[in-house]
Amino acid sequence: MSTLISSKGGGEILLLGRFEVLKKLGEGRFGKVYLVRDRVKGDLYALKEAKDPIYIGQLLNEAQNVLLIDHPHLVKLYHYFTSRSGNRVYLLYEYCDGGDLKGYVGSKGGKLPPKEALNILRQITEGLAYLHRYGYIHLDIKPENVLAKKTGEGLLWKLGDFGLLKTRGFSGILDVKGTVGYIAPEVFRGEIHRSSDIFSLGCLLYYMLEGHHPFKGKSRAEEQLLNRKGVVPIPPSLPEDWREVFERMVKINPFQRYRTAGELLQDLKKLG
Ligand SMILES: Nc1ncnc2c1ncn2[C@@H]1O[C@H](COP(=O)(O)OP(=O)(O)O)[C@@H](O)[C@H]1O
Ligand SMILES: [Mg+2]
Repeated sequence: MSTLISSKGGGEILLLGRFEVLKKLGEGRFGKVYLVRDRVKGDLYALKEAKDPIYIGQLLNEAQNVLLIDHPHLVKLYHYFTSRSGNRVYLLYEYCDGGDLKGYVGSKGGKLPPKEALNILRQITEGLAYLHRYGYIHLDIKPENVLAKKTGEGLLWKLGDFGLLKTRGFSGILDVKGTVGYIAPEVFRGEIHRSSDIFSLGCLLYYMLEGHHPFKGKSRAEEQLLNRKGVVPIPPSLPEDWREVFERMVKINPFQRYRTAGELLQDLKKLG
């Protein structure tokens, strides 16, 4: 499929006569994301388009769910466009100039000090608590989907990529199941709860402390198997007084975990 940049053979191209593509920011399973500048107002945005036309439905679902969501710890969607033919969709997101958490942990030598990991976890849990309050389940929490914005005081962390977002009570078939390393075990059976996101947050904390997800194996198949079983080891660098909270985040039984991010946040505030 041709993309925003390659369709015009590279260089400067304009979308709607208005958005100038400056560079590619990243790419995941469904989308490609570009840094664009609004020629009229000069503002920068992150523009997401489908990697392949088969994902257009996915992106439309993302756009329609997310448009009204507004929280400082969630990446803000401003607008979306569809081409006249209907075979292209563009999502105009707030630009997070601090990059994603995967890149950040890498730039810090592969692991974060516990205090910093807790600070990031709290921020993401606040964003997630907003989603959970409105009955959404994110289903794709992982380092690549956590983004930072530079501010005067440091980095503001935000949860992004709402491509797998579902509403509570969803009972259809889960065709795509997040990313091995971060998936709650019940999700493999097609069962989802808000506490499935709490399990993924536990895996995210593990990643920040250890530099890799908790289901490291010799092959992809082995990692998938370990993730399916869902036994999360205690991260060696986890402070002792966080242990109880961590264990409750990654329980195999979804009903024994924190039920929502709001509940988890209460306990995270007590750690320090
Ligand atoms: N708003 C943004 N600001 C800066 N970089 C972004 C933004 N959105 C996405 N990216 C980068 O692009 C990557 C892919 O975007 P994402 O929305 O996760 O797409 P996918 O659904 O394909 O996973 C991210 O992992 C991140 O590195
Ligand atoms: Mg992603």
